[in-house]
Amino acid sequence: DWTMAAYRETKVAEIRQQVGEGRVICGLSGGVDSSVAAILIHEAIGDQLTCVFVDHGLLRLNEREQVETLFRDHYNIPLVVVDAEERFMAGLDGVTDPEKKRKFIGAEFIAVFEEEANKLGGADFLAQGTLYPDVIESVSFTGGPSVTIKSHHNVGGLPERMNMKLVEPLRELFKDEVRELGRELGLNDQFVGRHPFPGPGLAIRIPGEVTKERCDILRKADAIYLDEIRKAGLYDAIWQAFAVLLPVKTVGVMGDHRTYDSVCGLRAVTSTDGMTADVYPFDAAFLTSCATRIVNEVQGINRVVYDYTSKPPGTIEWE
Ligand code: XMP
Repeated sequence: DWTMAAYRETKVAEIRQQVGEGRVICGLSGGVDSSVAAILIHEAIGDQLTCVFVDHGLLRLNEREQVETLFRDHYNIPLVVVDAEERFMAGLDGVTDPEKKRKFIGAEFIAVFEEEANKLGGADFLAQGTLYPDVIESVSFTGGPSVTIKSHHNVGGLPERMNMKLVEPLRELFKDEVRELGRELGLNDQFVGRHPFPGPGLAIRIPGEVTKERCDILRKADAIYLDEIRKAGLYDAIWQAFAVLLPVKTVGVMGDHRTYDSVCGLRAVTSTDGMTADVYPFDAAFLTSCATRIVNEVQGINRVVYDYTSKPPGTIEWE
């Protein structure tokens, strides 16, 4: 598509202009946006870019390995993987308020970036895969002119706190355009078609206290749900699908045992930009088989519910 080819060229020139001889570090989240931003920036300035992927212990199953393979083996882009699970879990200890989780995770990300930048001998720029809807939603939302619904961790307030300037080459784009740009840059359909994943990761899909144990339980349930969605051929028809782990225990029965375990919620929505969303209308039989598999295969979950709330009034993520 000539439009995206032209956009790519324009942005490459702009990035070169902005960065000059400077050093850039780019935070990778494992998602499409930061990956596309990194690949575009690498095309512009080569090894002046180093990517930093923070494994905060809040990632999906196998996500870290997938990012390592893509960047190191496929694109040969310098990548530092930071194992930060312990410090994130320690910081989240006892935190149940959604905004406190988000603010801690955002601040800790910046702290990790700054440490890594220092180790690399300093960076002049921080690159992020911020999109247009991220910019809008952190400022306000349809609920009122100046109401912050959620603090998206990768937007706002950073330059004052940091020595690094921001490089955000996707700031004017919507998700579908980022995917098109990703394809233009040679990413395969499977990768660019991945569902969005929020920076704060599984922390905002575990209402209440976040622990490693709860993250492990959620990772398993989420992987089963997505596996079922892929097998049913529904993945690409859905904007985002994921499991949440509720801080509620209910009574169940397995064989001749009483169980007393957590409730897992399933969410799936259609959307074009994440700003509004409709519930995906699965067949009852599909949801029943997901519930059966999750309860049978994931220790710690004995009940599964489906979220029927559109956005608005719900949001896509639960926190
Ligand atoms: P909500 O939950 O606000 O989500 O309806 C809208 C879209 O944004 C994603 N999301 C985030 N993405 N950092 C991100 O990079 C964040 O802090 C964040 N919070 C929500 C969410 O997954 C959905 O696609």
